[in-house]
Amino acid sequence: MDILIVEGNGPLSGTVPISGSKNAALPILIASLLMDGSVNYTNVPRLRDIGTTLKLLEVLGCPAEMDDAGNVIANPCEIAYQAPYELVRTMRASALCLGPLLARLGRASVALPGGCAIGARPVDMHLTALEKMGATFNLDAGYIEGVTDGLKGAHIAFPFPTVGGTENLLMAASLAEGTTILENAAREPEVCDLAEFLIQGGAKITGHGTSEITIEGVSELRQPKGASYRIMSDRIEAGTYLAAACITRGEVLIQNCPVDSMEAVLAPFEEMGAKLEEREDGLFVSAADRLKCVDVKTLPYPGFPTDMQAQIMAVMTLAEGSGVIEETIFENRFMHVQELVRMGARIKLSGRTAVVRGVEALTGAPVMASDLRASASLVVAALAAHGVTAIRRIYHLDRGYENIDAKLNALGAKVRREQE
Ligand code: EPU
Repeated sequence: MDILIVEGNGPLSGTVPISGSKNAALPILIASLLMDGSVNYTNVPRLRDIGTTLKLLEVLGCPAEMDDAGNVIANPCEIAYQAPYELVRTMRASALCLGPLLARLGRASVALPGGCAIGARPVDMHLTALEKMGATFNLDAGYIEGVTDGLKGAHIAFPFPTVGGTENLLMAASLAEGTTILENAAREPEVCDLAEFLIQGGAKITGHGTSEITIEGVSELRQPKGASYRIMSDRIEAGTYLAAACITRGEVLIQNCPVDSMEAVLAPFEEMGAKLEEREDGLFVSAADRLKCVDVKTLPYPGFPTDMQAQIMAVMTLAEGSGVIEETIFENRFMHVQELVRMGARIKLSGRTAVVRGVEALTGAPVMASDLRASASLVVAALAAHGVTAIRRIYHLDRGYENIDAKLNALGAKVRREQE
């Protein structure tokens, strides 16, 4: 297994290009299952989860190929209805094929995703909403078995603005009979990107980006001839490099930074004292002075994203004063805290709240990555720590960050991989 070795090496400086968004690409690639004819995508990030999605598509009768430049061609042919456990267990987003398969085939059999490090993460809201559209579900031998004799438009009010649930329903409703209204829908930019992709293929969707989305079902979806769909830039990857620039007191230009979707991320960094300047080719970040701790609460979009909570915590471990971080989206997303403490951070955890008291210095240590964003926070901390940090289980990191070692090294960091 690979270990990531990071030597603290002073301020980062230079330019870092941001890749396509993982969390936009996953549902949009899965939406190939809804299309008649082949589908072209660009700006798809080369990540482990994307590889898993392409395998899943192939098993479901939609072979898809990706080149080194991030272009994908998917060819939906004989769509199959069973998403096997071997694939689903490595990637929870596989549950997103329930909606498309029910819409396309009237049948879906998708392994129930297990728990994961950041919480139980059930899919009950997806199922209840699909039931409202006329599907019925059974749990059989670890598989969610869904059937319908035709999905029908419905009025659905989500109890919580679930990202995956909204995406599943957007896909299902696009090919259903009649009109669906999603109330309390997720407003995340990745949801909007999926809606835009479906609209390019002929779907009739309005209101995405607000809490109420209306979808008028159509009988077929097809990407216009000669068209391709460009996946949006990754706002969480951009935020992670922002955190890395800030903790090392560096000067970094974040290229292709989706600034418009990052207001709630940029605000606390500015409040901490980082200087942010929007330029034509990206976001320029500089943080020459020691930053100050702030209070942060994770919320659904447009609030501060849970996917940036671990990284901003890492930055606060070295900032002046103290700050309170409240996690309201996942019940168990503080696995990075104990690892940061091993590096010398002062963090007190109580339920869903962490209080960070900034220290003068962190020290490199052997640490363990527990999930994707926790891994990212350890890398961020390690860049500013004295000495060497060895991060184990970095396969988590490769699920969500394209070429992270090369991108950091190009900014002057000292990062390498070793085999254990
Ligand atoms: N929830 C339920 N029942 C459901 C659905 C969700 O209880 O049926 C709960 C979840 O357990 C969680 C909360 O609602 O506590 C939010 O879940 P949501 O459905 O919004 O999240 P998701 O679709 O499972 C996506 C991202 C996550 C990101 C969250 C929140 C993808 C593939 N994943 O997950 O990304 O944290 O939205 O913004 O888009 C990551 O990239 O590291 C990551 C975990």
